Amino acid sequence: MSETKRAAVILAAGQGTRMKSELPKVLHQVGGRPMLDWAIAAAQEAGCERIVVVAGAHSPAVPTHATKRLGEAAVAIQDPPLGTAHAVRAAENALKDFSGDVAVLYADAPLLRAETLRSMFSARKDGLAVLAFEAEDPFGYGRIVLGDEGVATRIVEQKDATLEEQKIGLCNSGVLCADKATLFQLLAQVSNENAKKEYYLTDVVGLGRKAALKTYVALAPETEVLGVNSRVELAEAEAAFQQRARIAAMEAGVTLIDPQSVYFSYDTQIAADVVVEPNCYFGLGVKIAGGAQIHASCYLEGVEIGANCSIGPFARIRPGTKLGAKVKIGNFVEIKNANFGDGAKSSHLTYVGDADIGARANLGCGTITCNYDGFDKYRTIIGEDAFIGSHTSLVAPVKVGARATTAAGSVITKDVPDGALAVARGKQRDVEGWSDRFRAQKAAAKKDKGS
Ligand code: UD1
Ligand code: MG
Repeated sequence: MSETKRAAVILAAGQGTRMKSELPKVLHQVGGRPMLDWAIAAAQEAGCERIVVVAGAHSPAVPTHATKRLGEAAVAIQDPPLGTAHAVRAAENALKDFSGDVAVLYADAPLLRAETLRSMFSARKDGLAVLAFEAEDPFGYGRIVLGDEGVATRIVEQKDATLEEQKIGLCNSGVLCADKATLFQLLAQVSNENAKKEYYLTDVVGLGRKAALKTYVALAPETEVLGVNSRVELAEAEAAFQQRARIAAMEAGVTLIDPQSVYFSYDTQIAADVVVEPNCYFGLGVKIAGGAQIHASCYLEGVEIGANCSIGPFARIRPGTKLGAKVKIGNFVEIKNANFGDGAKSSHLTYVGDADIGARANLGCGTITCNYDGFDKYRTIIGEDAFIGSHTSLVAPVKVGARATTAAGSVITKDVPDGALAVARGKQRDVEGWSDRFRAQKAAAKKDKGS
């Protein structure tokens, strides 16, 4: 027996006016990923072989984004947007050669888990299923009116609800699942006779029930289905994502000393037995191997950190960086687009950009790679076991050989051979007695002025 095929229609054509933003609502980010991409990822992970994003003509950035992610055939335009039922109908043509189950989800609900979406395909059984939640504050959501046997009689939107119906705490998440043919038959009957003069997707529940279809209700926790319509709700979704990411990290064996002060991105990967101290921020593209210590107040993005490294406190690592095992990056060190071999160290006050640092090399306090001439960027290459003296400036492109040393305060402009010492600074000259004479002169002048 072949499995029923799955498709998803993601609604992303709303105006999102409550965001008060130039950027379309569904491209605002949660955990560093646009909300629309959260919905796409959930659909993909739930086994949807076809995904159609319904976008509006009013903000071209949405179809452009969706086309880049899924190809042109996966984008339908709803113009003008006349409501969520009208939006799903806009996807009908893109699905004309598809038969099977269709899940509808809203691109403004980024926290929906793939498991939940997957379970909706079985929850619909011989009818349709809606995903509901018990809202702490149901204001603004569609309310689910329950009939006998726990099935829904209909969904009533906030603006159309009677005072009695407004007391209902069971709310519509927006996720709905049905057989494609049934769904589009019901959608064709939806009218716009309501407070907003919109075609409501939610009306398919009442229409289905009237046609003796089973309208099942599945439940999800509120934090998973939270709909984002304003900046305040965007911050709530972000907080919920962060909380989920912190718990997942700790459950996977990561120690977070003060979880509430650590911020993750959707793609952060941290292995077991990493310790993260307070106030750390993980931007996009961070991967950390086991045993690493991330000390307090680090800002990390685009970096792969090897096993047993020690990072920070107060380190900033920027994209394109790869650190081997047991690398030490200390306080006030900034690294960009650089590789550090195993056991290399940069312990204090340093800028390393566009560089390859050999294994066990030591960069002294105040080392600076001068990688930019105002037009182009150049690389600095430092050999294994090299010792870069404090306050060395390395004017790229430049190479320091293996085991070589640079004298403190040097400005290195030429390649240094393996095993050599490079001294590139003014020679020290002592003027005997100068300081004593100067002090005496100044003291005498001060005394004269005072008398
Ligand atoms: C909707 C539901 C409500 C539910 C809530 C959950 C309807 C009528 N109401 O209300 O029951 O409790 O979500 O968050 O469905 N969109 C389009 N085209 C349109 C209108 C909207 O694509 O013409 C898209 C939006 O981009 C958004 C989604 O559909 O991603 C939901 O629209 P929104 O205006 O946010 O609906 P809510 O008022 O939140
Ligand atoms: Mg909404």
